Amino acid sequence: MFEGKNIVITGGSSGLGLAIAKELVVRGAAVALIARNREKLEAAKAEIEKVGGKAYIYSSDVSNIEAITGTFPKIVAEIGAPDILINSAGILREGYFDKLSVETFREVIETNYFGVLNSIKAALPFIIKNRGRIVNIASVGGMMGVFGYTSYCSSKFALVGLTESLRYEVKPLGVKVHLVCPSEFDSPMTEHLNDTRTPENKAQTLTIPRYDIDAMVRDTIKGIEKGKFIIVPGLLCRLTVFGARHFPAITRMVSDFKIRRVFVNRHLL
Ligand SMILES: NC(=O)c1ccc[n+]([C@@H]2O[C@H](COP(=O)([O-])OP(=O)(O)OC[C@H]3O[C@@H](n4cnc5c(N)ncnc54)[C@H](OP(=O)(O)O)[C@@H]3O)[C@@H](O)[C@H]2O)c1
Repeated sequence: MFEGKNIVITGGSSGLGLAIAKELVVRGAAVALIARNREKLEAAKAEIEKVGGKAYIYSSDVSNIEAITGTFPKIVAEIGAPDILINSAGILREGYFDKLSVETFREVIETNYFGVLNSIKAALPFIIKNRGRIVNIASVGGMMGVFGYTSYCSSKFALVGLTESLRYEVKPLGVKVHLVCPSEFDSPMTEHLNDTRTPENKAQTLTIPRYDIDAMVRDTIKGIEKGKFIIVPGLLCRLTVFGARHFPAITRMVSDFKIRRVFVNRHLL
């Protein structure tokens, strides 16, 4: 399915984007990686060469529409028109609502929502021509509210809305859309999270233990191959999302209980 395909991955220099890229080159795809930091891109390219693949790298900021629109013609010239766009670029800012500035909210929305929107705008004419695919990496945090993730969940809920609606518009044009909703997994994004996160966030989020990144890659690729629209990697995560979508009151009750326990413990100490 991926053999001979041109695949563009935003956020491809790190974490899930890079791990997916490594798996796809092994399956015969040509990958173009987009991220801002050139050194990280060079290191990612070297990692991909180690598994016998070739990566084309582009330093660009997905939150800047001019920058990202200017990047796609370069990709097309070097590897050809993309068949698949994987939007993995994202940032996380955790903290109590009253400690997060409005600028932080804007930064998160600009990256996690407009970054995906901008990339789709730039890639869509090519994806339509190739009757290709768009894969948006959202989060469980796009399906349910999470303590400490007011900025992050806002951006991911918006991304879920964009993805659900866009699916209807591009399906008649032969374009498949996938919405990936992982829970927490090992990556540079979460590496130091435990040093700074609020205890309430930890208690609620780690109801689902942190996943290994390889399991995320495996389930994401399997979901794309099966043509699934919503892909939730990991069994426990799937059960949580099922609960959040079909029994939201119970989900809120369980979360309230976990958060209340942290609150009570803090006040007893
Ligand atoms: N890790 C988790 O537990 C988890 C759970 C659920 C969902 N997710 C989602 O999965 C996706 C990947 O997360 P990850 O853990 O792999 O993160 P990561 O390791 O921190 O990688 C993020 C990538 O995005 C790039 N990026 C960030 N801002 C960018 C911008 N403005 N323009 C272009 N590239 C940008 C980064 O490179 P530069 O900084 O060099 O630009 C990097 O390549 C994200 O969308 C995240 O929200 C993660």
